[in-house]
Amino acid sequence: MSKKWSITVPGSTANLGPGFDSIGLSLNLYLELTVSLAKNWEIIHVSDHLPQDFVIEDHLIYKIAKETAARFKKTLPPCRIEMRSQLPYARGLGSSAAAIVAAVELANLVCDLQLSIQDKLNISSQFEGHPDNATASVLGGLTISQMDEQGIVDTIHVKDIEASFVVFIPTVELKTSEARKVLPAQFDRNYAVRASANANMLAASLISKDYERIGKYMESDLFHEPFRSSLIPNFDEILRTAKQAGAYGTALSGAGPTVISIIPSAIGAQFVSTMKKRFPTHEILLTKADHQGVSIQVLNDVFT
Ligand code: HSE
Repeated sequence: MSKKWSITVPGSTANLGPGFDSIGLSLNLYLELTVSLAKNWEIIHVSDHLPQDFVIEDHLIYKIAKETAARFKKTLPPCRIEMRSQLPYARGLGSSAAAIVAAVELANLVCDLQLSIQDKLNISSQFEGHPDNATASVLGGLTISQMDEQGIVDTIHVKDIEASFVVFIPTVELKTSEARKVLPAQFDRNYAVRASANANMLAASLISKDYERIGKYMESDLFHEPFRSSLIPNFDEILRTAKQAGAYGTALSGAGPTVISIIPSAIGAQFVSTMKKRFPTHEILLTKADHQGVSIQVLNDVFT
């Protein structure tokens, strides 16, 4: 007899403008894994967002779970995993970070690694390469993080962000690796001072929940959006139209190509309806911050 678990991980948006590689916000769009121990490895993709053709040995969940177990000198046993996702792939909604967080949790469960929350923040951010999406997926809510050269993550966790968030998902994919190639390797000092002042003001506005200012500084990024905007369908138009329709502010979601607006919750339905008419080829979703982060449920005991 063995156990069956469900691992649920929220997706996330990163950067919120100038919080580049540091600020993340979990969203109530989820990746869910149903896991049981098995004789052989099996991964079943249940939702449309996930490809049907893949090799288990190349699957991100398998690779990260195996490497996590190996870090603790354990061997990952074969599992049967059903995977459901509301997160479109390569759109800037943290699908890879959510998969990494789920895989770390999988190894933790089936190899009894006894990982602390800090271990999960460190390991998942190290695999992802930056802590913005991964910390938000682990903790839920908003995270402001720094990862040092040893891969140790320091996170300030901000709860109860009461605004709503609207995501504009285009039909095209954009891989983060491609969207990072267009960024300059260096900034001149005056430019870097302005860019980091904007990021400081964004972080301070988020902590003080000053939504008008959050919107203002979300639109002030100098680290990445000026170099990425040409890769993003309708970026300037969405930004302008969202402002007219009552958004506090709009930014690229992570590396894009999804764009995200922060809006007062009271205008949610009207805002979405206006924007759907204006941008009919985008999938436009009204979301909120997730409040829980990664969660595990023991489903039942199953006979194998
Ligand atoms: N901070 C990352 C970027 C998020 O903007 O490239 C995407 O992983």
